[in-house]
Amino acid sequence: MTHIKPEGTLTWQSPSNIAIVKYWGKKGVQLPENPSFSLTLSAAHTRSKAVYRIDPGLDSPKITIVLDGVDQPDFVPRISQFFQRISDTYPFVNQLDIRIETHNSFPHSSGIASSASAMSALALIICEIAGHSEDLAEVSRVARLGSGSACRSVYPYGAVWGKSGGFPGSKDTFAIGAGQRMHDVFKSLRDAILIVKSGKKQVSSSAGHGLMQHNPYAPTRYRLAEERMLVLGDILPAGDLETFGAICEREALELHALMMCSNPPYLLMEAGTVEMIKRIQAFRNDTGTAVYFTLDAGPNIHLIYPDSEQERVHGLIRDELLEFCENGRWIDDHVGTGPEKINLS
Ligand code: PMV
Repeated sequence: MTHIKPEGTLTWQSPSNIAIVKYWGKKGVQLPENPSFSLTLSAAHTRSKAVYRIDPGLDSPKITIVLDGVDQPDFVPRISQFFQRISDTYPFVNQLDIRIETHNSFPHSSGIASSASAMSALALIICEIAGHSEDLAEVSRVARLGSGSACRSVYPYGAVWGKSGGFPGSKDTFAIGAGQRMHDVFKSLRDAILIVKSGKKQVSSSAGHGLMQHNPYAPTRYRLAEERMLVLGDILPAGDLETFGAICEREALELHALMMCSNPPYLLMEAGTVEMIKRIQAFRNDTGTAVYFTLDAGPNIHLIYPDSEQERVHGLIRDELLEFCENGRWIDDHVGTGPEKINLS
């Protein structure tokens, strides 16, 4: 910890990610009950600029957070908790006077979770202050303590988080990059994010993770997730898109089935979500197009497809799916190369 920069201005841009095998259920301090695999996105990202100073006179951090020019005092407790969790390895955070100006490329109320992109951007800022933002395993560990899924956003193309027999070197405490194990077809996948409903979810992801503790299907779920990771370990290098697509859809529906089997049970899909799923499956059966859906913990659809199918999939969106999107909104995203340091002149 000898290279701490005592003051400065730093800007990082970090992407969101979409899980193919889902993280759902946690233990200890932000450790996953099962391994997960995600694709790193690109168009959906957060850009955060931090103006900071380490003030030896402080004994707790002084945090200001501004989203698109508007002060957000409601976000401060989450950042304070994050700083608290990393203060054993980074004691300087207790003396940090920091102003974070942040912007999401996607609308705040679009129903797209910004925690993965925002927390990974902040982890990069903290690690750069500490002088080791190039150590992605450490950046990932720090990001995990801000938001579980954020630990997967720091790598190009894809990441694995949680110990899995399918991915040597994988760990619960941080994610590892999966890009070198991904066939080109997976590195060039696209993700059309179809916004069915924006606004705050009726049950948050943290509450959803918590409900897994007493979910009677949890042990089976954790076993199935690992089985799918073993399959992914084989098919990612081989480029088997069809098996990948089948896993992608099973995982999406299983995640939502787990919510329906929680106590109390809940449902985050909307009528439009279900109708779109049926149309996507029918389109694939009728035309042979390689297009698959997945879902986050919310009603929006992520349409995953190789770039060779772009024209057909854009046709499907325009002709059959857009009518279910709130105000016709969707985000044309694709697998990306990970975070970027922004040098503002
Ligand atoms: O990182 P969290 O606590 O927001 O949980 C993310 C959970 C899912 O998005 C549903 C799955 C995942 O692996 O990203």
